[in-house]
Amino acid sequence: MLPILATERSIVSIGEGNTPLYDLPRSGQRLGVPRLYAKHQGMNPTGSFKDTGMTVAISVARESGANWVACASTGNTSAAMAAYAARAGIRSLVLLPDGEIAWGKLAQAMDYGALTLQLNTDFDGCVRVLAEVVNRAPVYLLNSVNPYRLEGQKTAAFEIAEQMEWQVPDHLIVPGGNLANSSALGKGFLEMKHLGLTAKVPRISVIQAEGANPLVRAMHEFGGEKIEPVEAHTRATAIRIGNPASWRKAVRIIQETGGWVEQVSEAEIALAKAEIGAEGIGCEPASAVTLAGLQKLAAKGKIERKESVVLLLTGHTLKDPDYTIKYHRGELPTETEVGSLGPKIEATRRNAIRVEASADQVMRELERFS
Ligand code: F0G
Repeated sequence: MLPILATERSIVSIGEGNTPLYDLPRSGQRLGVPRLYAKHQGMNPTGSFKDTGMTVAISVARESGANWVACASTGNTSAAMAAYAARAGIRSLVLLPDGEIAWGKLAQAMDYGALTLQLNTDFDGCVRVLAEVVNRAPVYLLNSVNPYRLEGQKTAAFEIAEQMEWQVPDHLIVPGGNLANSSALGKGFLEMKHLGLTAKVPRISVIQAEGANPLVRAMHEFGGEKIEPVEAHTRATAIRIGNPASWRKAVRIIQETGGWVEQVSEAEIALAKAEIGAEGIGCEPASAVTLAGLQKLAAKGKIERKESVVLLLTGHTLKDPDYTIKYHRGELPTETEVGSLGPKIEATRRNAIRVEASADQVMRELERFS
């Protein structure tokens, strides 16, 4: 079910896959979905779901003798590509939107030895520049249009099925950025059903940030027939994408599986991220759109209590600690963004408190919060 290499020696692996499937009992109870799970792809070696695709694509690149690989990225693809390329002894070129990526991801690209260029544009601008570069230089393109990456990313579907004893969930909820992952997972589930390994395919829903919602608009305004690029803005920088490459594939999989699209606000994302954190799981902001989206779908009566729902958490919480610290310090979301969620957000904030180095001071805080 995966591409075949001429020799196993070409395989480049850092131990990706076999990520945990957690239950989320508190969120599940709150939302009236007792069978709620999180497939945590952030538990891969470089901390995101990109590793499962990158092991396949870099293995193919190595076998084809590539000297350079390249991608434009909101951060996670570049981190994964840089790591796998380093393992394979291939040089890597990374184009990033300047100032709009999480520090953890930028640090990874540097640590794994990529040639890291920060361009004074957004992700969509980086994609445009890279398209020209690959025409002018012999570099192997590793953006998510690369078919081998999608083949690798579909393995999360196999894992979910196996972890649920081949009873696939009723509903899978995925964040939407460049829109490759939703269709990769859909392909995985469809192939398993085709082979008779599973009886059905889950409904696949895609959630976007309100400020980066081209797919939501494409579905609601044009019935999935066309897309109008938007200028994207969201603090969930991983999905700050206005002109997604794989939108047609995402539309097809949503329609084929009976899924929905939904958009969530900056405040809803921030709160959902804190709620996932409070379950001892944690994730990066882009992953939290799944829980925020589930909440919206449940409020609209689109989720039944008996359904099993899996949220795909795409990135590790340590990818973007800056976001988390600002949330708990009360620096995000802004007052205008919080709206009616203010009290709920306040209740989840756990700022660090500076105290004198004395047991008395520590005891005072302990009593204050008991
Ligand atoms: N979640 C995270 C943490 C991501 O990094 C991305 C995409 C997505 C969700 C969206 O997945 O693009 O398949 O719809 N990150 C890409 C990158 C764009 O460059 O790292 P998608």
